[in-house]
Amino acid sequence: MTYKKVLGAFLVSVLFPALSSAQDAAEHPTYAKEVSRIIQENCQVCHRPGQIGPMSLTSYEEVRPWAPLIQLKVAAREMPPYHYDTDVGVQQLKNDWRLSQEEIDTIVDWVNSGSPFGNPEDLPPARQYPNMDDWQFAAELGPPDHTIKTDPWDVPADGQDLWWKPVVDSGITESRCIKAVETRPSAAAIGSTHHANSHFKVQNADGKWVDGDRLSEFAIGKLGEKVPKGACRRVPANSKVEWEVHYYPKGVAVPNDQVTVGIWFYDEEDDFVEDESYPQDLRAYILNGGGDYMIPPHSTLMTQGFRSFDHPVRIDSWQPHMHLRGVAMKMEVFYPETGRTEVLSQSSNWTSAWNHSHTYEEGFQPLIPAGATIILTGWYDNTENNPMNPDPDQWVGAGQRTTDEMSHAWIAVSHLDQAAYEKLLAERKARDSKTVASLGGQD
Ligand code: HEC
Repeated sequence: MTYKKVLGAFLVSVLFPALSSAQDAAEHPTYAKEVSRIIQENCQVCHRPGQIGPMSLTSYEEVRPWAPLIQLKVAAREMPPYHYDTDVGVQQLKNDWRLSQEEIDTIVDWVNSGSPFGNPEDLPPARQYPNMDDWQFAAELGPPDHTIKTDPWDVPADGQDLWWKPVVDSGITESRCIKAVETRPSAAAIGSTHHANSHFKVQNADGKWVDGDRLSEFAIGKLGEKVPKGACRRVPANSKVEWEVHYYPKGVAVPNDQVTVGIWFYDEEDDFVEDESYPQDLRAYILNGGGDYMIPPHSTLMTQGFRSFDHPVRIDSWQPHMHLRGVAMKMEVFYPETGRTEVLSQSSNWTSAWNHSHTYEEGFQPLIPAGATIILTGWYDNTENNPMNPDPDQWVGAGQRTTDEMSHAWIAVSHLDQAAYEKLLAERKARDSKTVASLGGQD
């Protein structure tokens, strides 16, 4: 639809120049008035000096040459990079980078009308930005209460994928509930840190160190994660943290690199006085195709994985994870009692260049009754049509390397009892009986 609009406006301006120039110029948006504000709000976080965007977009002079490409990327919803379908599933998301249709239309109209500058008096003041070394949550939550670093590691300028799996002391002496967690690669290695996962190691009754819960997951383009109030994702005291950092050298050597995880804690006495707290965990719960799949050369594949719980759960976030051939993912829930299936979240122009944890807004997290089945569907494109595909002549199977495939989603799950589930459901029904998703199949 948006492409048609772009094309339509272009044809009008080519076929009826008199008509389009006869339109009042003031009807069209200008850089100074509308476009600069959209770009400040939504693009400069990455497109300014020293950030990951390939060019700076902080002035008219910088933006103007890119106008046609900006129009294309914005109309296709490829920029800002937040690949989450707008027409299906839960739409209430935290840290949602998507532009509104109105903002997209403004940019499209601005470029079609010749990208005018407008009146300098309309320009907004330049924006101030936090230090690149700063935590994304710092503005809102202040510095983290606790940080844990990997042991240093020399990242080479080029070469193959590398894994760094140090086990470090967590330094945590008290078991507390996580409010927010954010994993931060160093500023120098931000482009070559493909992902950095961490989980706890705890001592069992025999004194043996065994794997505990997940701590955090960082992948390129991802912000940290917040645990909703009332849910408690616990850190174990006197634990260790095992890291799995995946570097993908990108032309810059970074000696002694360290990845850091920052944790903000709930003040349990204050925060949980009214709410009871429910245990939450963050896991790659649903594995597609069991890891046995092979994607033949020059072909596509769809895989599905299923998961159900014997108690009600609330899904607090969803992060698709695939590699270079992954192009789309969908999470649904099947309610056996009614035979209905409902889409919870879908990303149909997914790309491995960007990984987001889509965190549902409070009150809109899918509520899954006991026994319902969560279905995760992944689509892979191993043809030359997939711009991320390094080699469509290869057979591709499941594995660890960037060039192998993965097929899971990280979902944060709060485990509820029946009473809590019914209370949450009743609250939502009272609020809005028309909420499509996440009514436990009982709307
Ligand atoms: C989270 C960081 C981020 C945000 C936010 C972001 N960009 Fe980008 N942008 C990038 C990166 C990184 C690239 C290069 C890789 C790619 O194309 O995915 C890029 C590429 C582009 C390109 C293509 C450049 C080329 O040479 O192909 C355009 C145009 C663009 N961005 C415009 C925008 C606009 C306009 C916005 C805001 C409406 C925006 N971006 C928001 C990070 C970002």
